[in-house]
Amino acid sequence: MELLAKQKSLETRAVIYSKAFPFAIDSAKGATVRDVDGNLFIDWLSGICVLNLGHNNPIIAEAVRSQLDQVWHALEIPSEVRIRFLEKMHSVLPGTLNGHAKTLLTVTGADACETAVSLAKHITGNGTIVAFGGSYHGINQGIVSATSSRHYLETSGAIRYGVFHLPFPYSYRFPFPVEKRADEGKIILRYFEHLLTDDHSGLDKPAGIIVEPIQGEGGYILPPDDFLPGLREIATRFQIPLIIDEVQTGFGRTGKFWGCELTETSPDIMCVSKSVGAGFPLSLIAYREEYDESLPDGFHIGTYRGNPIAMAAGAASIDYIEKENLLRRVNVLGRKAKSEFQRISESSKYVGDVRGVGFMIGNEIVESRETKAPAKDRASQLRRSMFENGLLMHTCGHFGNVLRFMSPLIISESLLEKGLRIYGDAVRVLT
Ligand SMILES: Cc1ncc(COP(=O)(O)O)c(C=O)c1O
Repeated sequence: MELLAKQKSLETRAVIYSKAFPFAIDSAKGATVRDVDGNLFIDWLSGICVLNLGHNNPIIAEAVRSQLDQVWHALEIPSEVRIRFLEKMHSVLPGTLNGHAKTLLTVTGADACETAVSLAKHITGNGTIVAFGGSYHGINQGIVSATSSRHYLETSGAIRYGVFHLPFPYSYRFPFPVEKRADEGKIILRYFEHLLTDDHSGLDKPAGIIVEPIQGEGGYILPPDDFLPGLREIATRFQIPLIIDEVQTGFGRTGKFWGCELTETSPDIMCVSKSVGAGFPLSLIAYREEYDESLPDGFHIGTYRGNPIAMAAGAASIDYIEKENLLRRVNVLGRKAKSEFQRISESSKYVGDVRGVGFMIGNEIVESRETKAPAKDRASQLRRSMFENGLLMHTCGHFGNVLRFMSPLIISESLLEKGLRIYGDAVRVLT
């Protein structure tokens, strides 16, 4: 409490996480966090999908320690660690990017998305970006235009650039009547085609399409299987660069290395951040190599891009995921967790929907199954009660009413089960 009070006196009042989780951290290990009073918490936050390999992972720590003896900051000048990281990164790129890509290093997720949009505009000479309702791509002055939240648009004070938001196939709240789920994606794609082919539709020629394979901040929304491939097909036919934002879905979170691999969809430009640095700030875009030909020197720059410590952690992370066969683990434990979330939801009138894949599972909290009215206060009440019982679980979603499972991928089965029991108990006593 003393540290919280000091933070309050020193830092902006506009912080969010220390209000959602009012404690001060002493140390953290694996999928657990210890506070300064000695209480131990199970961590289902992973620093918002940054710590896929857990806190203080010894393999990452060793890579970082040995890099500390080499070089800490080197601009774009090549070093052994930079090349090692880039080679590993290129070796895991999805689909047609693999073996045919260039990379450009950035620092944050928003920075990567911002760069991706600039690249698409540069390549096509067009100005408008197509994004999706519910999307989150960061809140820097440029990219916030593609982020769908009114709150962030208003608080950023940014002058919005041309973005056309299509609806995302959010099944639980799809606005049009459909016979089956698979139709939702098809309707949106048909509408998109109409926008592109009718000169009076109101859509300028797009510079690019930016999409998350599974919406993260928007509420852990997994689109129907044919949606991303359909978008890919339209993007190819109309020669619009497809930007896939893997900032939250990358590095094994979904049970595939990249979220777009769930449907074998290849990006033209891909945004990578969060877990790529295993806790150290690092991000990048990977893009079709032919896009590189016309880029002027200093196309997109920044002093801190490609930090060597973060790249050492990144290279070790890729090794770890491969050597430990982490994707298999995420698939097996993710299925187990989802079926338990589903079982818990059946006995509660307040859990309207359980969705997602791998370690990316959303539980949408509502006032009642019939009305589906979003229950943000109940979701916050649940978060608080889990926190009091030693589990960190955060909310997201259009209405702030989705509790999301995003634990480190290395969580032990027994801690996972313990966390599920705490979640189940909290849901059971929810009034
Ligand atoms: C899909 C996605 N893109 C971009 C971002 C922005 O990343 P950052 O917060 O590092 O700017 C986020 C952050 O949550 C994200 O989830």
